[in-house]
Amino acid sequence: MQNTKAVQIGCGHYLPDNKFYNSDFDKKLNTSDDWITARTGIKARHFANEKEKTSDLAIAAGKMALSETNIKPNAIDAIIVATSTPDQTFPSTATRVQFGLGMTTGYAFDIQAVCTGFIYALANANSLICSGQAKRVMVIGAEIFSRILDWTDRSTCVLFGDGAGAIILEARNSTNNKSNRGILATDLHSDGKYNNLLYVDGGVSTTRTSGVLHMEGKEIFKHAIDKLTNTSENCLKMANLAKEDISWMVPHQANLRIIKNTARRLGISMNRVILTLNQHGNTSAASIPLALSCSNQQNKFKTDDILIMEAIGGGLTWGSVVIRW
Ligand code: ACO
Repeated sequence: MQNTKAVQIGCGHYLPDNKFYNSDFDKKLNTSDDWITARTGIKARHFANEKEKTSDLAIAAGKMALSETNIKPNAIDAIIVATSTPDQTFPSTATRVQFGLGMTTGYAFDIQAVCTGFIYALANANSLICSGQAKRVMVIGAEIFSRILDWTDRSTCVLFGDGAGAIILEARNSTNNKSNRGILATDLHSDGKYNNLLYVDGGVSTTRTSGVLHMEGKEIFKHAIDKLTNTSENCLKMANLAKEDISWMVPHQANLRIIKNTARRLGISMNRVILTLNQHGNTSAASIPLALSCSNQQNKFKTDDILIMEAIGGGLTWGSVVIRW
């Protein structure tokens, strides 16, 4: 068994003040609270104000995680920010977060895997820690999807929200600690032939603009349940665990019907599934760390609980992480 584990030592989150309910959508959009609730489970989402940037949301989440762990910024070796809505084309949002947190040592970089971004970032942080390249890594998922939405497209603009969540991982020797807490397994996938199912119609090397989001929702729905179930089963197998061992499922918060069907396939009852999408909407890479931090704040997780996190997003990308809390 691997001796060094990446163990969670603190979480944080930030949601912009502006809460936007289904009933707040302009009547010209021809939508309704009933449609959005029935098809997605979403009731409300938060939107950043004009002055807020993705790094501002990420810094607020990072500060909360630091204050929870009571450690100084320079005790962090690396910051990974998962985002598809960076402040600028370059430099990375992560370096702005590094500066904003007052961290003058270590290194920082972004990861882009759309809604699976946080899972990818956690897996990479785990590798940095297990290979001895870093002792403490802050992983943040932060998004302002409201900047890339087509506000005339009712099939997409009602789904997304803005926010950020953070977690700090620390290297612990599990032999010395007689504990098996921390990340137990990770499982990542992508398949680029599905690029056109979910994309933004702009980019530096194509249009020199940032573009707006397009999604073939029905097509993604068809992939989601199979791929999320398969990756979760793979990850549990790698962790030498069974479905019955799962204490909590912390899924990407995109659609309640996808979450319910995946939980059913995995044999997990809905009272063991963390749900925040009704109040947050789909915050892409921020959705899982937001759900983690909000639940942690409510003391939902007990020491040694087994959590499975899973996500699917543009790419297509999908994956999962199993962690002992
Ligand atoms: N209000 C009212 N009616 C609407 C709305 C709306 N906001 N949006 C679409 N409709 C209509 C459509 O026009 C269509 O009408 P029609 O039958 O007259 O043509 C009807 O509702 C049904 O539309 P569908 O697209 O078939 O609805 P569906 O049940 O598939 O739900 C949804 C759409 C919610 C997007 C769903 O397909 C979904 O959640 N897909 C998966 C999304 C996902 O998980 N994406 C990956 C993560 S996101 C990321 O990576 C950034």
